[in-house]
Amino acid sequence: MTARDLAARQIVRLQVNGGERELVGDPTRRLSDALRDELGLTGTKIGCHAGDCGACTVLLDAGQVCSCIVAVGQCEGRTVTTVEGLAGAGGALSTLQRAFVAHGAAQCGICTPGMLMSAESLLRANPKPSEAEVRDALAGVLCRCTGYTKIVEAVLAVAAGEVAAAPVAESGKSVGSRAARLDAPAKVRGDERFGADAWPGDPGGVLAMRVIRSPHPHAAFTLGDVAAFLRRWPGVVDVLTAADVSNNAFAIFADLRDQPVLADGVARFRGEAVLALVGDAETLEALPEAEVPLSFAPRPAHETTPAAFAAAAAGEALHPRYPDNVLCRGRVVSGDVDAALADPARSARRACASFETRHVEHAYIEPEAGWAEVIEAGAAGAPRRVRVFACTQTPYMDRDEIAHVLAIAPEQVQVVPSAIGGGFGGKLDISVQPLLAVAAWKLGRPVRLVYERPESMQSSTKRHPAQMTATATCAADGTLSAFDFSGDFNTGAYSSWGPTVANRVPIHATGPYRVPHVRALTRAVLTNNSVAGAFRGFGVPQAALLGELLIDELAAQCGADALEFRHRNALCAGDRTPTGQRLDASVGLRECLEALRSAWAAARAAADAFNAEAAAARRPLRRGAGIACMWYGIGNTVIANPSTMRGALRCDAEHGAHLFLYNGAQEIGQGTATIMPQMFADAVGLPLACVRQVMGDTDLTADAGKSSASRQTFVSGNAARAAGRALRKQLLERLDLPGADDAEIRLSLDGFALVGSAGGTRRRVDLRDWPADAAGDLVSASGHFNPPTVPLDADGQGVPYATYGFAAQMAELEVDLELGTVRLLHIHAAHDVGRAINPTLVEGQVHGGIAQGIGMALMEEYVNGRTDNLHDYLIPTVGDVPPITVHLIEDPEPLGPWGAKGVGEPALVATAPAILNAIHAATGVRMHEVPVTPSRLRAAILALRADAATASRTGAESS
Ligand code: FES
Ligand code: FES
Repeated sequence: MTARDLAARQIVRLQVNGGERELVGDPTRRLSDALRDELGLTGTKIGCHAGDCGACTVLLDAGQVCSCIVAVGQCEGRTVTTVEGLAGAGGALSTLQRAFVAHGAAQCGICTPGMLMSAESLLRANPKPSEAEVRDALAGVLCRCTGYTKIVEAVLAVAAGEVAAAPVAESGKSVGSRAARLDAPAKVRGDERFGADAWPGDPGGVLAMRVIRSPHPHAAFTLGDVAAFLRRWPGVVDVLTAADVSNNAFAIFADLRDQPVLADGVARFRGEAVLALVGDAETLEALPEAEVPLSFAPRPAHETTPAAFAAAAAGEALHPRYPDNVLCRGRVVSGDVDAALADPARSARRACASFETRHVEHAYIEPEAGWAEVIEAGAAGAPRRVRVFACTQTPYMDRDEIAHVLAIAPEQVQVVPSAIGGGFGGKLDISVQPLLAVAAWKLGRPVRLVYERPESMQSSTKRHPAQMTATATCAADGTLSAFDFSGDFNTGAYSSWGPTVANRVPIHATGPYRVPHVRALTRAVLTNNSVAGAFRGFGVPQAALLGELLIDELAAQCGADALEFRHRNALCAGDRTPTGQRLDASVGLRECLEALRSAWAAARAAADAFNAEAAAARRPLRRGAGIACMWYGIGNTVIANPSTMRGALRCDAEHGAHLFLYNGAQEIGQGTATIMPQMFADAVGLPLACVRQVMGDTDLTADAGKSSASRQTFVSGNAARAAGRALRKQLLERLDLPGADDAEIRLSLDGFALVGSAGGTRRRVDLRDWPADAAGDLVSASGHFNPPTVPLDADGQGVPYATYGFAAQMAELEVDLELGTVRLLHIHAAHDVGRAINPTLVEGQVHGGIAQGIGMALMEEYVNGRTDNLHDYLIPTVGDVPPITVHLIEDPEPLGPWGAKGVGEPALVATAPAILNAIHAATGVRMHEVPVTPSRLRAAILALRADAATASRTGAESS
C-alpha cells in the first residue's frame, strides 16, 4: 500500500456542531472542503482558499480560524462550530443572528457566516467588548457590501443586551419602513445557496470543469495531440476548444459580439479562456498544467491606452473591425465652449488638470460558480433544453447569450440564478455560464465549475482605467461658465460595457452643476489588458475625481468656501443639463449640501485647531476636510429599460392565503428581495408578511432587466407597484363591495380567506373555492414600466435618463506627512434618494458604496498577473472604514414609485473625490492619480516641499 493509499484511509474524529463525526481521507486536506463537500455544511463559504478573506471562518474549539488553511488532521479530538451550529433548538436564531437580521448587517450574505463566527468567538470570550475590540475581532473577515458599519452595530447591540426584534411593517405601510430583509434569516443561517453551494442531483454524477487560460497578454497558441492526452489522463472526459462552440462570440450588445467563449488560436489578454477540460474533479485538480498539449507563441502586447494608439499607428489592431483600436466614442456638446473659454468675463477664473485612474477589481467575495445540465425533452417534439444555475446580475441577458452561443432558441435555455455573493457590475458579464452550457450540451451530462480566486480576478471585468484632462472656468463671482473634458478609457480586449462607459461619462462629466458651455469627449480604447466592464458607476466615479478637483480649485481661486461654491452652482429644478434635458423635479443636491453645512464648518475648524497644535509641537500629522458632489442618471443610458413584474393571490394548505410575487429583479445584496415585496404589498394593500416570492428564474419570472445602473428600485419598483395595483383592482372586483371606492377598502387575509371591508360593510370569501391555474395562482396581474427617455443626437443632446440621484459627501482625515499614510476620521454622506423605500437598506447601500470609494481612493489597483489575489489586492477592512453619518434626503421623483429613485451607484461616486480634496486641505498636495498610496502621497509631499524650497530660494536670489 502506498503512502497515498494510507493517507486516503486515515480517520480523524472530531465534534462538529455538537455531534461526533469521522472524516476519512487525507488528513492534510482543507477543513473547509471537508466541511462543505463531505459533511454538506455549505454555510462555510470559500472566497479565496488562501487565508485572506475570512469567509470560511469557523470556531476550532473556542477560537476563530480560517478553515481553508486548517488541515483536517489538526482537528483530531477537537470541536468545530460552523454557522449551522449557531441556531438553537428547533432552528431558533441565536441572539447574534437575530441582531444581524434586525440591523441589516447581511447584504449579499457571502461574508455573513464568517462574520458571525468571528463575532461569536469574541462574544464567548468577552461578552461585553468595546467597539475597538469588536473591530479587532472582525478584522480578518472581508466584506465588500456593507462597509462593516451595520455589522459592528449588530455585534455591539448583542454586547449591550439591546437586540431589538426585527422590525415588522404594518399593512399598507411597508414602504418607508425599516422592515427586516426577507432573505436575512437564510443568510444568517448559512442556508442560502450560492453558485458553489449546489449540485444538480447526485454530486457523484456531475462532471467537473477546469479552464486553461492564457498566461500571456497576447499570444497565438496551438493544440497538440489531444487524443494522446486523453489516453494518458482517462479521468479527463473531454477537452473543449473553440471548435466546440457553435457561435463563438458573446457580448453585452448583440451587434458587438466579439469575445470568444474559448479563444480561437489567439489570446488577447492574460487570463483569457483557451481550453476547458471536463472530467472527474480529482483528476482535474491533480493534473499538472504542463501536461496539457498546448503551446503559446507570445506576441507584442499593448496593455495601455497610449500603447494601443501606437500599435494602431503601426497598423496593429486588436480586432480588424477597429483599425484605430477605438471601440467607440462618446460626445456631449452644448453651448459654445471655445467662445466661453475665450471670454475674460465669463471665464475670469480657470482650472486645468489631468487625472489618471487604474484598474479596480470588483473583489466580490464569491468567486464565479455554477452548473449546467441538459433537460431532456418531455413532450414529443419538444426540443432539448439546458438549465444553467449560476451567479448573475442579469438572468435574461445570460439566457440570450447562452442561446446565441449554443445556436438554440432562448426558450431552450433556463437560467436559475444562485444567491449572489456580491456583483457590483462584475456579474453582469457572463463568466462560467457559456462554458458550462457548451460542455453540458455537448456531453449530455451535468457539469460544474467553481473559479478559484486568482482565476476569478484574472478573467473577470474591471473598472476602466482612465486618462482624463479637463478645463473648467467661472466668472469672478463664481458662476460656472464652461467645462471642456476629454477622457480615454482602457476597455481591454473585448467590448463588454465599453460603449456604456464611453456614453455615460460625457453626460456626467461636469458633475451636478449648471454649466452652460460644455464639451465632453471620450474614447473606449481596446488593449491587451483585462476586459473592463461595468463597475458601480460606469466611469462616472473616474470622471468625478477630476471634476471635483477642478471645482475645488475654482472655489479657491474665487476665495469661496468649497461647499458654498457648490451650492451656488448646484443644479436645481428647472435647470437644464449638458444634454439639454430640463430637470423638473427631484433635484435635491442643495438640500444635501445644506445637510452637511454644520458638520463641514465644524470639521474645518477642528482641523485648523489640530494643525496649529501639531505644527507648534512639530508633529508630522495634519488634518483636513474635503467635500464632493455627484449626480447619476438612474437606469440604462437611452436604450430601452423595461421591467415586468407579476403578482398573484394564492392559497394552499401550507401557507394559507398569501400574495405571491414573480420577482425578476435579481437580488445581488442590494435588497430587491425585500423592497419589491414591500412595494407590491403596499400596492395591493396587504401586509409585507403575507408575500412569498420566486426570484429571477427565467422560466418563472418575467424579464425585469438587469440589476445594475441603480435601476431596480425606480424601474422594477414601478413595475411591482403596477402589478400590485392591477391585482388589487381584480380582488376588489371579485369582492364586489357596493358603493365603496378603492381608497376606502381595507383588505386582509385570514386563514384561507380574503376579507374586504369598507365603512360598515365586510365581505369574506373562502379562497379554497376559487380555481387555481397551473402555477397555483387564483388571481394574477402584471405590471410594466419603461422609463421615458429621448435618444441623444450627434452632440449628445436628448433625455438620457428619466431621473437622477444626487449626493454630497464630506471626508475628514489625517495625513502623516512623513509616512504618506492617510487615516480616515469620518465620512458624512447626504443622498437625495427621492424616497427611501427601506431606510435601513438604503443606509447599507451608502455605507457599502463609501467603503468601495475608500478603496478606490487609497488602496485598490489591479495589475493583471501581479495582484490577482486578496493578499496583494487590498480592499478596505473593518479597520479602514471610519464612522459614517448618513443623511437621507427625500425630494420625491414624480415618476418614481412612492417618489423613489436609486442609490446603488450614487453611494460610491463622491467618496474618492471628497477624500482627495481632504488630502489637499490637509497637505496642500493635489493628487492627480488614484489610488493615493502612501508612497505616492509621500512622493507628492516631498515634491511640494522641493518646489516650495526652490521658490523660496528663487525669491531670495531675485530680492
Ligand atoms: S476562503 Fe478561507 S480565508 Fe478566504
Ligand atoms: S454582505 Fe459582506 S460581502 Fe456581501
